[in-house]
Amino acid sequence: MLTDEAKRMRTTRNDRTSHERAGPVANLMNTQYSPGRAQAIAYANVALVKYWGKRDADLNLPDVGSISIALDALWTRTRMELDPALERDSFELDGQIEAHGSGRVTALLTRMRAIGGSEIRSRVFSQNNFPTGAGLASSASGFAALVTAADRAYGLGLSLSRLSELARIGSGSAARSIFGGYVEMHRGELPDGSDSVAVPLAAAADWPLAVVIAISERGRKSVGSTEGMQRTAQTSPFYSAWVNNQPDDLALARTAIATRDFDALAHVSEASALALHGLAMSARPGLLYFNATTMECLHRIRHLRGRGVAVFFTVDAGPQVKAICAPEAADTVAAALKDVPGVTEILRAGLGGGAVGMDDGQTWT
Ligand code: DP6
Repeated sequence: MLTDEAKRMRTTRNDRTSHERAGPVANLMNTQYSPGRAQAIAYANVALVKYWGKRDADLNLPDVGSISIALDALWTRTRMELDPALERDSFELDGQIEAHGSGRVTALLTRMRAIGGSEIRSRVFSQNNFPTGAGLASSASGFAALVTAADRAYGLGLSLSRLSELARIGSGSAARSIFGGYVEMHRGELPDGSDSVAVPLAAAADWPLAVVIAISERGRKSVGSTEGMQRTAQTSPFYSAWVNNQPDDLALARTAIATRDFDALAHVSEASALALHGLAMSARPGLLYFNATTMECLHRIRHLRGRGVAVFFTVDAGPQVKAICAPEAADTVAAALKDVPGVTEILRAGLGGGAVGMDDGQTWT
């Protein structure tokens, strides 16, 4: 018996699937399905207009929309093998059997099995090429890669929009990593979450900005996003102001992206990041994701912009600072941030593409 969700997912295959993407990788993917084994790659994203807060915890529906860019240098690769002999799914991350987060993986795979009418469990092997759980959006690329691989391994052929919806159930920011370039996540209104999905706004090539990331702590963050959001919504006196202001920031960012207006994007992005952290600090007990190095990096970036360098900052639920800049400014920005005491590592990225699935045995390009 198919659930209502399974029926809906199966009858709305009306837009492109991850097998039909345009571009060089797509040619690699336009091969036969091989249900049973598959792999996928998805890129991390960084929000310029931030998501923080949920309107429904079970379906993981956001209280606010958000806008992000995909990062080409930060990715998760996931391989899946279905095995009828398995009694439960197993999940390995970076070579270790993963207990942290495996509940969300199994819950998502159970949903996807229901869509395909399968009961077969799977082995999931994931690899991140960047620190997990340190405010670098590992859950975003992780769940986007997972649903893309599972779609292929279970032979579902779901649309990108439905994959975005499923990725969102794993992690809100993951819904955005189904798409590349500039992406908007819709808050949605429907209780079943079918309109709470991401959509592409512009391709990476339309406005190829660069990203410089200053790492100052590689460990897992003390309070994860899910718990942090819940605490903020329940205890901050400013939560409703945050939610009410979001449509204005989304509109400003949408226009800035459509018109390639760097200064406008810088202003709204920094405002959104600072509002998120101000909001999180106003929770009780307050959430402090910044360390001293984070703050120093923000000052350096503001100083550079004051000198005419095209750069702005954003920070997620961790201490790492992401500097978004014009490609020609990236060397200057990287040198300035490397010089900040406490910065242990600099990562550099361009804008990335959407999640891509392939048959097992194909090699990554
Ligand atoms: C600060 O997507 O990790 O990075 O939906 O609870 O898994 P869950 O949260 P998650 O939160 C991301 C929060 C953020 C802002 C953003 O990416 O928009």
